[in-house]
Amino acid sequence: DKQAQDLLKKQAAQKAAAMVEDGMVLGVGTGSTVAFFIDALGKRKEAGLKLKALVTTSNRSKKQLEGWGFTVSDLSAIDQADLTVDGADRVDDQLDGIKGGGGALTLEKNVAINSKKNVWIVDESKMVHHLSGFPLPVEVLPISCEQNFRRFAQEGLKPQWRMAGEKRYVTHYGNYIIDLAADPIPAPHGLADYLDHTVGVVEHGLFLDICDEVLVARGDGTIEQRH
Ligand code: A5P
Repeated sequence: DKQAQDLLKKQAAQKAAAMVEDGMVLGVGTGSTVAFFIDALGKRKEAGLKLKALVTTSNRSKKQLEGWGFTVSDLSAIDQADLTVDGADRVDDQLDGIKGGGGALTLEKNVAINSKKNVWIVDESKMVHHLSGFPLPVEVLPISCEQNFRRFAQEGLKPQWRMAGEKRYVTHYGNYIIDLAADPIPAPHGLADYLDHTVGVVEHGLFLDICDEVLVARGDGTIEQRH
């Protein structure tokens, strides 16, 4: 149930908060697991933790961080982060993942790519052998989104528009999101390569060779650290 799952998320979050060191430039992601991380980080701040700088991937996280008295910088104001802690929607045996369920994949990938180390915090329900069970978000420019959608359908990728009520969901950058429901994700590296070379695709939620370590909170109360 949700209460038990929240407890797992909290345990992984606390473990990650213990990895943060004084003087770090820290990246903080988004999501319900990261929300627990921010609270644990806030408590460390109250106990004297001093960061050099902090960046985050959503307004929601920004507000929560500011609530704890942290100053949040824009990504462009830092060179790179020492450590970024984020959640994920799915993580496979290679520590490749799907992210972007929250729609912020472009900023999330930019923060991750500009971080020396990336740690993901997840409960065990996110772990899979092969990326599956979660539609892959693709952010597309409005000018060519109809062509992108049709090509994805022709490729058998089962595109669906991300909706916000009756209207298409609009990202922070004024773009749309197409969720690819092909399941499992066929050959993630090949698909990422295809999407990286598709004009009109701004970014996609395949985070390959990005995660350095995942903290998996298990139902038996243990936290597995995978490198
Ligand atoms: C946001 O776009 C996602 O990439 C999140 O990192 C992901 O959805 C994790 O959120 P939860 O911790 O709430 O599952």
